Amino acid sequence: MSQALPDDAPPIHDLIGIGFGPSNVAMAIALSEHNARVGRQEAVTAHFLERQPRFGWHRGMLIDDATMQVSFLKDLVTLRNPASEFSFLSYLQSKGRLIDFVNHKNLFPLRIEFHDYLEWAAVKVDDMVSYGHEVVAVRPVVRDGVVEYLDVTARTGSSSEPVVYRARNLVIGTGLRPQMPEGVARTDRIWHNSELLERVDGLDGTEPSRFVVVGAGQSAAENVAFLHRRFPQAEVCAVFTRYGYSPADDSGFANRIFDPAAVDDYFTAPDEIKRKLMDYHGNTNYSVVDIELIDDLYRRMYQEKVLGTERLRMFNVSRLTDVTEAPDTVHTAVESLVTGEKTPLDADVVIYATGYRPADALGLLGEVKGYCHRDEAGRPRVERDYRVTTAPELRCGIYLQGGTEHTHGITSSLLSNIAIRVGEILESVVDRGREPATDQIRHAVDEISSSL
Ligand code: FDA
Repeated sequence: MSQALPDDAPPIHDLIGIGFGPSNVAMAIALSEHNARVGRQEAVTAHFLERQPRFGWHRGMLIDDATMQVSFLKDLVTLRNPASEFSFLSYLQSKGRLIDFVNHKNLFPLRIEFHDYLEWAAVKVDDMVSYGHEVVAVRPVVRDGVVEYLDVTARTGSSSEPVVYRARNLVIGTGLRPQMPEGVARTDRIWHNSELLERVDGLDGTEPSRFVVVGAGQSAAENVAFLHRRFPQAEVCAVFTRYGYSPADDSGFANRIFDPAAVDDYFTAPDEIKRKLMDYHGNTNYSVVDIELIDDLYRRMYQEKVLGTERLRMFNVSRLTDVTEAPDTVHTAVESLVTGEKTPLDADVVIYATGYRPADALGLLGEVKGYCHRDEAGRPRVERDYRVTTAPELRCGIYLQGGTEHTHGITSSLLSNIAIRVGEILESVVDRGREPATDQIRHAVDEISSSL
C-alpha cells in the first residue's frame, strides 16, 4: 500500500475508465462534450483502458443479416443530447446513407452496421483511450489513513512493463463474459456462440455434416439460422429445454421497462417488487427470440418437411448430455426430458448458446474491495448515481456500468439506457468533485447510515 505521493508519481486523472465497450465509449463522448462546453478549470480529465487491440463489440456475432434488438435512437447519445454530433443519424449522414436509411422505415439497423457506428464514434474520441491495455490490478494510494487515489495497473503485452494510471474516480465497464454449462470446456469442436464467426472461418475447406446448437435464446436461434444457410449440406440440430422458441416482448407498454424512469422505479422498489418486475418482464430480453427469426426458422423447417430434405432438426424439451470429444467428432446424446430416453448424436461441432454473465465488477479491485460495501447476497451496494457505496476513508468514486441489475434493473447490461446513465455518472463525478472535504465526509457518513 503506498503511504505517500512521491515526486515521480503518475499524473492524476479525474477519471479512469476500465473497458472501452459501448458504455465507456459513451462515457468518453459525454466527457468530451462536457469539456468542450466548460472552461479549462472545470474540465474533467479522463482516460480509458481497453484490453482489445482495437474497438470491437461482440465481433464473433456480427452475422451479416442479424439486426439490433434496440432502436437506433437509443444510440450512445441521443436520449441525453439529441443534438450530439455522435448520434447514429450523424454517422449515417457521414456515410452518405441517411436518406436510404430513412426510406427503409426501420428502427433496428443491422448489427454489423451498428458496430460500424460504434467504431466510428470510438475513433472520434480515440485520444482518450489506450487499446491493448488490460487492467490487471487496482491499488489504493493512502495518505494519513485516507485513500486519496486509486492506482490502476494495465498490462500492455508480455514483454513490456505494466503501466500505472492514477485516478480520483473509476468507471468500470468491463461487460459480459460468455457462460458455458458447469463442467464443459471450450475446445476446437466445442464452442460458445460468442466465437462463432472466427471459428466458422476455421472450418474453411472442411465439410461438416452436423452441428448441434444448445439454447433457445436470440443467439441460439441466430446460430441455427446462420449455420443452416452457410452449410447447405449439413444437418443443424437445435437442442433446448423449452417446448419452442418464445418471442421477445417488444410491445410498447412492456418496452417502458427500458425507460430512464424505470431505473428510478426499480431502484426505489422493495426487493420483492424488484424480483416481480424481473419475472414479469425478463421476456423482453432473456431467453427470447425476435418473432421474425422464429417465423423464418419455422418456414425453413416446414419447407424441408414438404420437400423431404429435413436437415433442420429441433430437439425440444431436451438436454444435451454425455458430451465427449474424439479426434474427428464430438459424441453426444440428446436426453428427452419427457421420457428420459437418450438418443446418441455425433456432431462435428457443438455450440453452446448458453448466455453471458456480467464480469465480476469488483473482481479487479483487490485490496480496494475491502472498502466497498456489499448487501446480504454479497453484491455491491450501489447508489442511484451508479457509485459503489464505500467506507468513508475511501475518497475516490467507483462507478459501475453493468453489474447493477440487482439495484438498477434490466437495462444494466444493455444499450437502452447508456446515453442517460453516462450523463448521470458524469454529473455525479462533477458534483462530488466540487464538494469541500467536510461535505465529502458528511456524504460518506450519510451513505453508510442509509445502507445500514
Ligand atoms: P461490453 O462487453 O460491450 O464491453 C466491455 C469492454 O471491456 C470490452 O471491450 C472488453 O474487452 C473490455 N474489458 C473487459 N475487461 C477488461 C480489463 N480487465 N481491462 C481492459 N478492458 C477490459 N444490448 C442491447 O441493448 N441491444 C442489442 O441489440 C444487443 N445486442 C447484443 C448482441 C450480442 C451478440 C450480445 C452478446 C449482446 C448484445 N447486447 C445488446 C447486450 C450487450 O451487453 C450490450 O450491447 C453492450 O455490449 C454493453 O456494453 P458494455 O460496454 O457495457 O460492455
